[in-house]
Parts: sequence; structure tokens; C-alpha cells
Amino acid sequence: LKQALVKNPNEPPIVFHWFPFVGSTITYGMDPPRFFDVNRRKYGDCFTFILLGKKTTVYVGPKGNEFILNGKIRDVCAEDIYTVLTTPVFGKDVVYDCPNSKLMEQKKFMKVALTTEAFRSYVPIIADEVNDYFKRSTDFKGKSGVTNICPKMAQITIFTASHALQGKEIRDKFDVTLADLYHDLDMGFSPINFMLHWAPLPWNNRRDHAQRTVAKIYMDTIKSRRDRGETGAQDIMYHLMNSTYKNGVKVPDHEIAHMMIALLMAGQHSSSSTSSWIMLYLAARPDIMEDLYQEQIKNLGADLPPLTYEDLAKLPLNQAVIKETLRLNAPIHSIMRAVKQPMSVPGTKYVIPTSHVLLAAPGVSASDPQYFPEPDLWEPHRWSKESPLAPSIVRQGEPDEDDEEKIDYGYGLVSKGAASPYLPFGAGRHRCIGENFANVQLQTIVATTVRLFKFRNVDGSNKVIGTDYASLFSRPLEPANIQWERRDTE
Ligand code: HEM
Repeated sequence: LKQALVKNPNEPPIVFHWFPFVGSTITYGMDPPRFFDVNRRKYGDCFTFILLGKKTTVYVGPKGNEFILNGKIRDVCAEDIYTVLTTPVFGKDVVYDCPNSKLMEQKKFMKVALTTEAFRSYVPIIADEVNDYFKRSTDFKGKSGVTNICPKMAQITIFTASHALQGKEIRDKFDVTLADLYHDLDMGFSPINFMLHWAPLPWNNRRDHAQRTVAKIYMDTIKSRRDRGETGAQDIMYHLMNSTYKNGVKVPDHEIAHMMIALLMAGQHSSSSTSSWIMLYLAARPDIMEDLYQEQIKNLGADLPPLTYEDLAKLPLNQAVIKETLRLNAPIHSIMRAVKQPMSVPGTKYVIPTSHVLLAAPGVSASDPQYFPEPDLWEPHRWSKESPLAPSIVRQGEPDEDDEEKIDYGYGLVSKGAASPYLPFGAGRHRCIGENFANVQLQTIVATTVRLFKFRNVDGSNKVIGTDYASLFSRPLEPANIQWERRDTE
């Protein structure tokens, strides 16, 4: 009753809760998509809930995505939210530990290195890493077996990303020191650290030690590359070593080192969670895994030559598997922004005050039947125009990239609008720069795995495991066991 009486009519409705500080923290934290769905039905697309004492305003659907992700820089701010978590992990002077204009320049440096020419060199590197991993791994010895796929995908992701983006010298260090150090860094990303990031707790001490050690490894590598006068490498580290800010300052070595950490950490969780989901879906749908294999035979030739960047474009189902998995299992379920000045919500009477945090959840519209028929069904064939399950954005023709109105926030042109029901890579000034790399990496991992294995669920069913929301990025609950069988034993 008290909550109803004190309600401000110019603010969105507040989700009912019993305890003031706790609010809806537990129901949200246990299953964010379910929480959004239940409360959207009760309160509409825009509502507020209490998250650890903070009024957090959710605005779902394409209009909400546009309102939050394309918010003006004077209205919304990402660094106010994320810096406590990211600065101790990445290090100083990069990403959210600097003015937004500097982040935009840093994103531009990194994006410029992610060219078609670079991708062409990455595909064989990634395919070799995957083949090598399955050859070496004791978990895949013999003709068939059962394995918890998530840790395997985490390793494949870090080996492929570090080799492609940071060169062989860094990749080789993952077999020795870097794997454990990155593991310690990772502990800084647990949600509890939104509150306890400063505390002298054992895992924070390990995080800080790892940050200093990893940064030094990168700085030593940069120095030795410079001493050797190395100029040939296509990777991002080389590109950053030759980049200069608009004010004429060359990017300092410690910032390159910190950006290297940020790049691997930004991609690691999202890509490894996505590849794990893909393998689990393929185990639940062996028919799709067979379709993927046949697609390669048909479009690349029965002898399956080594994969190239150009080959990936000839494998539409392989691409659709990634799109469909990100539709249902986008690893970033909540994107938050601080409110810097009161913001009117267009078409409503609501004004969001600066005491609130804004939360966008693009995954809500990606599983809305209004846009995606039978939304809960994982069906990669739906991304073909002919499919009866094709989403409206495919049936009407996805907007032609070249026709769309573009804007440059400082890191290259991106689509101006964010009012799409499908935004797994975000939108606006904080949009992902790793989208194309992630697609190349995931498509190569899937295409290579499909050549080697047949997967199925251990119990032969079509069931897919539930989601673990306990870490910042959602991922499959573990153990996520699948049954594998080598193709070459047929
Ligand atoms: C930002 C998703 C892979 C680097 C983002 C955002 C999303 C996202 C939703 C927006 C965050 C926000 O607005 O607060 C994903 C997904 C991936 C992926 C689903 C894989 C499946 C990668 C990879 C890299 C990367 C591989 C690096 C090579 C970044 C960077 C940002 C970003 C630097 C910018 C952060 C900012 O401007 O605030 N990503 N990402 N991501 N991502 Fe990714």
C-alpha cells in the first residue's frame, strides 16, 4: 500500500517488493529474462525495480533499445556504472577509465585493425588452433566419449582469439603462464564486485597481482617487437603500436597493454558462452549438425579443403546457427547506463530522474512472438527468407547496410537507429566493435568442429540445459555434458 501511495505518476511503475534495499535483486538475479517477461506483462515495457537499493528503470522493446542505447552523451553514461568493475581488471587510462571521447578513439584504433585483410589471415589460424586442440586434448582421445563442453570452448576461444588478435608469441604464453593469470583477472568480473571491488579480499588481491603481471608481459612483448623492428604482423597489437591520438600523442605502451587485456576479456565470455550454446544446441539437434556438414560438402567440395575467409560466406546455415543462438542466448542480458539529467520518455508522461539507473535488455524483443514466430524454438533455418518461421526483419528484407542512415561516434560509421528487435551486439556509441571478429571466429570454430565430430545429448533427447546467470555474462549451467563421436571412424 505504501509503495502505491508514494508512487510518483511521472515515473514508471515500481515492481512490488517486500524489503526496501533488497527490492527485486533476488528475483532479477536468478533469472533476468523471466523477470523482464513477468513484469513487462504486469507493468508494460517501461518499469522500475530496486536492485541493491538502486532504482533501476528497465525499458524493453525496440523503443526502449533506442531510448537507452542511442541516448545522448549528456543524458546517459556507461563509465559511471562499469568503471568500478573494469578498471581493476583492464588497468588505467583505457575503456571506462578515461573520457568517452578517448574510448571512441581507442575503439577506432582497434576497429581499423579488424579488416577483411586481417580476417583472411585469421581463418586459417583459428581453424588450425581448433584442429590442434581436438588432436591434443585428452578429453577427445578415442572414437567417442562424453565431455563437459563449456571449459573446452572457453579454452578454444582464448587460444583462437589470442593467436589471431595478439600474435603467436602471446598465444604460446597461454600454455605456460597466461591461462592462470587470466583466470585470476576474471574473478574481478563477479557481480559481487560491483559492491566489493575495493575490498582487500583474497580474490581481489589475486586480480590486482594478475593485472600487473599480464600488463608487464604485454609491455615486454611490445618492447621486444620494437627492438626487433618487426613490421609485418597484421594483428591489433602491431596496429596499436603505430597509432596516434588526435592530439598528436602516440598510444603509450601501458595503454596498449591494457587494451590488449580489455579486448581478450570483452570477447572471451561472450564468444565462449556462445560457442558452448551452439555445441549444446547441435547435440540436441543432430539433424542440424548433419545439415551443416552437408552444406560444406555441397558448397566447398567433397574433399573439404582447408577453410578460407571466402568459404564462410558460402555457408549460410553455418552463419544462421550463430545468429539464432545469439537471438536466444545473448550473453549480455542487461546493458546499464547512469542517468546524467532527467530524461523524458517520448510518447509517455514519464521522466526518468538522475537517481535512477537505466537498463536495456535487447534479448526481450529477440524472443518476442511479435517479431519472431515460435520464439522459444531454436531453429537456424528461420533465417532463410523462405522459412515459415522467418522473422519480420528477414521477411521484409533486412535493411540494406548501405542504405541505412549512419552516424560516426568517433570509431567509424554505425547504423543510426537502435530501434531493432535484434541487437545482440548492442547499438549506439558503445556498440560492439568485435562483432565481425566474433562472427569469423565462431563460424570457423563451428565449421571446423562439424568436420570432425557428430554430437548428441547423452540421453539422446532434444533437451537443452538451463542458463547460469550467476556471473556477469550468462552461460550454460555446468556440467553441460555432450556425447561426441569422431566422423573419421565411420
Ligand atoms: C561492446 C556483445 C564479442 C569487444 C559490446 C556490447 C555488446 C557486446 C552487447 C555493448 C555493451 C554496452 O552497450 O554497454 C558481444 C557479443 C560478442 C562480443 C554477443 C560475441 C558473441 C566481442 C569481441 C570483442 C568485443 C570478440 C573484441 C575483439 C567489445 C568492445 C565493446 C563491446 C571493445 C565496446 C564497449 C563500449 O564501447 O562501451 N559487445 N561482444 N566484443 N564489445 Fe563485444
